[in-house]
Amino acid sequence: MFSKILLITLFSPFLYASSIIDNSFITRYEYGQMLYENPRGIGCNKCHGLKGEGALIAKYKTSKGVEKRLSAPQISKVSWQRFKEVLSAKENKSLVMPTYFLTNEELVSIHYYITNLKK
Ligand code: HEC
Repeated sequence: MFSKILLITLFSPFLYASSIIDNSFITRYEYGQMLYENPRGIGCNKCHGLKGEGALIAKYKTSKGVEKRLSAPQISKVSWQRFKEVLSAKENKSLVMPTYFLTNEELVSIHYYITNLKK
């Protein structure tokens, strides 16, 4: 009896972790949102907007006085294939977007979130 309780106590953190992403604690949508705004690095929302609609990052003038705009594209309709290709590259080719180190599970959740955003 005692050993059974001990076992449950010892393993419950693992049970907890694996149930985070199913429906018992938070939904995949909520998990995706959390990661989108806090992906162990600068939040995706800071560049792509709160709803993945794309956003202007900066406006600047070149030395010749030409006005330039730097913006991040809309990503709320991006295919899973493309999403995965961009985000799982060991070193992405972007000069602007940082390289992230997200697990497949985390990518699935973020992609789910941005493509199912409640408008
Ligand atoms: C510092 C700004 C910045 C941050 C933060 C950022 N991105 Fe980006 N992202 C960009 C820019 C700019 C591009 C366009 C390609 C380029 O210029 O490098 C891009 C491109 C993409 C693309 C490819 C879109 C397409 O249609 O090809 C995806 C998908 C993407 N970002 C997802 C994300 C996700 C998910 C996060 C968070 C984990 C994130 N980005 C964080 C700036 C950012």
